[in-house]
Amino acid sequence: MNYLQKIIIDFELHSVEGIKECFENGVNPNEIVKDKPLIYELINMYSRGPLFKECIKVFVDYGLVFDDKVLLSVLLDNATMLDTQLTADKKEITICEIGCGGGDNLAAIAKALSKDISLKFIGIDIKQECIDFAKQDPNNSYIVEWITSDYRNVSFTKKPDIIFSSLFCHHFTEDLLKEQLKWMKENSTIGFFINDLHRHPFAYYSIKLITSIFSNSYLVKNDAPLSVARGFKKIEWKNILFAAGINNYTIQWKWAFRHLILYMHERK
Ligand SMILES: C[S@@+](CC[C@H](N)C(=O)[O-])C[C@H]1O[C@@H](n2cnc3c(N)ncnc32)[C@H](O)[C@@H]1O
Repeated sequence: MNYLQKIIIDFELHSVEGIKECFENGVNPNEIVKDKPLIYELINMYSRGPLFKECIKVFVDYGLVFDDKVLLSVLLDNATMLDTQLTADKKEITICEIGCGGGDNLAAIAKALSKDISLKFIGIDIKQECIDFAKQDPNNSYIVEWITSDYRNVSFTKKPDIIFSSLFCHHFTEDLLKEQLKWMKENSTIGFFINDLHRHPFAYYSIKLITSIFSNSYLVKNDAPLSVARGFKKIEWKNILFAAGINNYTIQWKWAFRHLILYMHERK
């Protein structure tokens, strides 16, 4: 049996036992396939079920050499390991959200991350109402610098380590997105991530149905499905990332109908 061919099918099936069998039968977890480490065949696959992290763990158990421990902790979905890595590398981490709205995401991150890391946050939003709202929200009582501006006009004296956007990109054209990706890359020291909507008929019709039952607001009923319709397919993300000159990223599918795009600068 050709175990190198079999393991690719096992990746598709997220078959933990199948992957183990291939490693037991001579496949090397550090094998190079199509000029890239074998693990990228798994990482770059579309689906991300609950078994994805177990498949990554099999690689680790069978001797994976993966220098980027921060990325590895993300792939393993291991928050403790991520904390340890970030703390080991840096004493202070600055996280910046563009299009932060009322600051809910920053508050959630501040709550989730370990108290061992000194965290600083920057929230940027073009709308004064959003920043005013964020400033008075008691959930936002962590160290944060609020900036009212188009993110493109912000220049940092000290670049943030991580920049992210959430439910932001589907408002823009592909050209503007390309600029956004370049901006995020140029202005971050560790990298960036993006959480945005996956355009899918199931997501579109479900949100239409849910908002028609549970919302009285015309705006919500109209805007929620419209936002999904403006979301992205994975291939579109790949094309935009390519056009922006960005490599070494991962795209993961997340419930409910989201894409998580993660880019990290190569570390020396
Ligand atoms: C759909 S909301 C998303 C809010 C928040 N990120 C979330 O996940 O809930 C998009 C936000 O982006 C802001 N925005 C739009 N264009 C912007 C720009 N060029 N620079 C900064 N903020 C912008 C809007 O004011 C709005 O608050």
